[in-house]
Amino acid sequence: MEEKKTYYVTTPIYYPSGSFHIGHCYTTIIADSLARFKRLQGYDVYFQTGTDEHGQKIEIKARDAGVTPKEYVDKMVADAQDLWNQLGISYDYFIRTTDKNHEEAVQKIFKKLYDQGDIYKGEYKGLYCTPCESFWTETQLVDGKCPDCGREVKEVSEEAYFFKLSKYQDRLVEYFESHPDFIQPVSRKNEMINNFIKPGLEDLCVSRTSFKWGIPVTFDPSHVVYVWVDALSNYITSLGYASDDDSKFKKYWPADLHLVGKEIIRFHTIIWPAMLMALDLPLPKKVFGHGWLLIDGGKISKSLGNYKDPREYIKEYGVDAVRYYSLREVPFGSDGNFSVDNLVDRINSDLVNNLGNLVNRTVSMNYKYFDGIVQSGNTKEDIDNDLINSVNGLYKVVAEKMDELKVSDALAEIFDVLRKCNKYIDDTTPWVLAKDDSKKDRLGTVLYNLLESIRICGILLSAYLPETSKKILSQLNTKKNTIDDIEFGNLEVGITLSEPVHLFDRIEKNIGD
Ligand code: MSP
Repeated sequence: MEEKKTYYVTTPIYYPSGSFHIGHCYTTIIADSLARFKRLQGYDVYFQTGTDEHGQKIEIKARDAGVTPKEYVDKMVADAQDLWNQLGISYDYFIRTTDKNHEEAVQKIFKKLYDQGDIYKGEYKGLYCTPCESFWTETQLVDGKCPDCGREVKEVSEEAYFFKLSKYQDRLVEYFESHPDFIQPVSRKNEMINNFIKPGLEDLCVSRTSFKWGIPVTFDPSHVVYVWVDALSNYITSLGYASDDDSKFKKYWPADLHLVGKEIIRFHTIIWPAMLMALDLPLPKKVFGHGWLLIDGGKISKSLGNYKDPREYIKEYGVDAVRYYSLREVPFGSDGNFSVDNLVDRINSDLVNNLGNLVNRTVSMNYKYFDGIVQSGNTKEDIDNDLINSVNGLYKVVAEKMDELKVSDALAEIFDVLRKCNKYIDDTTPWVLAKDDSKKDRLGTVLYNLLESIRICGILLSAYLPETSKKILSQLNTKKNTIDDIEFGNLEVGITLSEPVHLFDRIEKNIGD
């Protein structure tokens, strides 16, 4: 049997230093819909997310909470996993950087790079922002403060190990030039070259002695591996790299896609590729840096606390409404604003009016006029062609958009077809046909065309709105619910639909503000 094609997609591993917000959900929901879409297409998908648990910030948080760092992260990770479950995130593997196999593999990677001369011992002097766990140079500071969070930085000097990042500068530029798809969107590639590579790459500090909560360097245990080497390695340690069983590594590496927020694209397109070059491993095929979700135009911030637990939105509006909004509202790559007002508008216009009403009206009419039995679609008229052509072309268009990572556009295509279905109802007026016995076959055909369009949209929606897709397909009671059945005309004539089920409730504007 032919082996399935593989698809390995990752989210960043999140810091479990505070509870997650809608921004974390945004990345993860997008990765989930890409994974689900590839599964639908028959790929052998490996979708990974996880948590980045070491570092001084966690050490301090745990101390403040009066617990050990491990106790602290265990609790946060359980909470994160609960959130992902509530959001229907279909990850295949959840990596924690405190996993023993990860720690051992990182130690081996560090030792290998040291033995071959890519890591060396030196002295680190720099300005450090503890909450952000970032070192900055004088020129990067804004008004003398951390450019990311605006807080005080402090001067630190300590013995440290360094990774010879500068050695890989030319190879990185060559790689970017010869692999134009590697960094996306393309504007981010130019940013990396102009802002970081052209001014010259400096060697990177990769160990610390001023805190303990990290992976010890085996040959110099007063040092712990500094977070980015620990964190970035997750993408291969989870697959068994540098372990006794590296079969998953052989199968899935290189990753097809690292999905990351724009603030960490530098780590994924400069440091991570240089580490992989040093390890003599292939580079990921693509790194996509998406924009930020803002709240009221500003950054969603754990430290500002200007956000709600995403579970409150799920409880109030339903999981698929939150997923839909996250996937649809912001063109991928740009920044976008999260507002409850827009969320409610989207629910009412797209989910209630366009999708929910269409399915409900169609199934109800098929009950009213044909006791729920699917009629043959043999009495065709010209007016059907436009709808049938759009529905038949839909999978191809959606697949193309998904390959370009334009998830919002892919969804928009599906909802355009749903809109066409609603227009088709207005144009064909089934309730008028029903009054004339001689038009019974035509009425059956109109409803067949609608049910068939809904079936095909329902299959495609499984990547984005899994619960709703299930509800739609089970109302149709069809066995033709895979991508192999995507062509128009596969809905089984003569089956009886299940009772109509309401999909979405209209939300009154004043609720949830
Ligand atoms: N631990 C590092 C990543 C290591 S990956 C090897 C980290 N963690 S984080 O928790 O601070 O952020 C992780 C990711 O969360 C961001 O890159 C981004 O994908 C996502 N987001 C965090 N806030 C966000 C928004 N406001 N909007 C969109 N995405 C956001 O960085």
